[in-house]
Amino acid sequence: MSKYFANIVELPPDPLFGLKARFTQDSRDNKVDLGIGAYRDNNGKPWILPAVKLAEKKLVAKPDYNHEYLGISGYQPFLTESAKVILGPDSPAILHDRVISQQSLSGTGALHLAGKFLKDFYTVDGLNSKAPASVPIYLSKPTWANHNQIFQSLGYEIKSYPYWNNDTKTLDIDGFLQAIRDAPTGSIFLLHACAHNPTGLDPTADQWKQILKEISINNHLPLFDSAYQGFASGNLDKDNFAVRLAIEDENLKVPIVICQSFAKNVGMYGERVGAIHVIVKEKNPTLNRAIRSQLNKLIRSEISNPPAYGAKVVAEILTDKTLRAQWEEDLTTMSSRIIKMRKSLRELLISYKTPGNWDHIVNQTGMFSFTGLTPEMVARLEKTHGVYLVSSGRASVAGLNDGNVEQVAKAFDEVVRYYKPKL
Ligand code: LMR
Repeated sequence: MSKYFANIVELPPDPLFGLKARFTQDSRDNKVDLGIGAYRDNNGKPWILPAVKLAEKKLVAKPDYNHEYLGISGYQPFLTESAKVILGPDSPAILHDRVISQQSLSGTGALHLAGKFLKDFYTVDGLNSKAPASVPIYLSKPTWANHNQIFQSLGYEIKSYPYWNNDTKTLDIDGFLQAIRDAPTGSIFLLHACAHNPTGLDPTADQWKQILKEISINNHLPLFDSAYQGFASGNLDKDNFAVRLAIEDENLKVPIVICQSFAKNVGMYGERVGAIHVIVKEKNPTLNRAIRSQLNKLIRSEISNPPAYGAKVVAEILTDKTLRAQWEEDLTTMSSRIIKMRKSLRELLISYKTPGNWDHIVNQTGMFSFTGLTPEMVARLEKTHGVYLVSSGRASVAGLNDGNVEQVAKAFDEVVRYYKPKL
């Protein structure tokens, strides 16, 4: 192609952002976007959370409001409060000073930072190794597409653990547990803290206990991706159950890393608000300082220092009682509207006698439904009906509203009958 870029090839568009571009170009009035996981109100419009509007007002009215650089770790009130959101305010890890927090470019930035940090410094106990381990990372099958790209770009060996049983549309817990047992000691297991993307299927409390027990027996490192706290149940404390269980598990001897995003639950998608929290097992101020300094170095070399605006808005919400209460109400507004849409879609499909069982739509949780529609059906939905979802059949339920759910249900019905699959 070029003497200087001899090996370069053009890649296909990103599945999600490519879909967004096709949707934008579609001139049909009745098109429906069930692609990217972004909340929409009942009119199909982006929603600025009332808590965010109030926080922004309060923030800009402060006499010392400015756009100066933050420190490299990020905005301290945001870091302190975000750790409390994911770990719980009374977390033993916080009380015993075992948490090292670094602000990141939302969840993706946190995952990249976690991957790089672990690649450089994680030495696997049990292998008696002093050198950074070359351990594989295990991702759920399926998982958010970007997980693969992030860890591939860092040179990880990527493996998968069974998760979704397509026949039963339930969690393949036996396959999951077996993969944990079979993985080399000290492997990294990427776990979706709640509202699994793309399936919307979370382990039960009992299943989480089994998963974490096997992880601890086999000395693996849990890496939590928490991008939807508050979206599964509407309640922050319910949705961090798995993380708290891991933190409070005395048998788990390894560090825990949490990648936290506020893109969805505060609706600050483009502002890139997030954090990485490294939880060590013992109080050790020297180790804490070393970890912090290395995370700082990575941030400094990549983005110099984290973006300030979104973190300040979120910190305002988390530190002001009234704003915090408003945010919790906003979470309920979003999660309950999504639950309502799940019910409407299922009921409509049942009323049309659409072939197949549609219970999974209401049993799944969070922003997404893994509909079971095949790639051909998804392609036909887009072409014939102007209904956009990713080819895996994942639908962002937040894109449904009272005005379009019937149209979407009819479109689902048509494509299912067209291909007459065994669903
Ligand atoms: C999604 O899965 O739709 C979101 O997490 C948006 C993204 O960045 O992929």
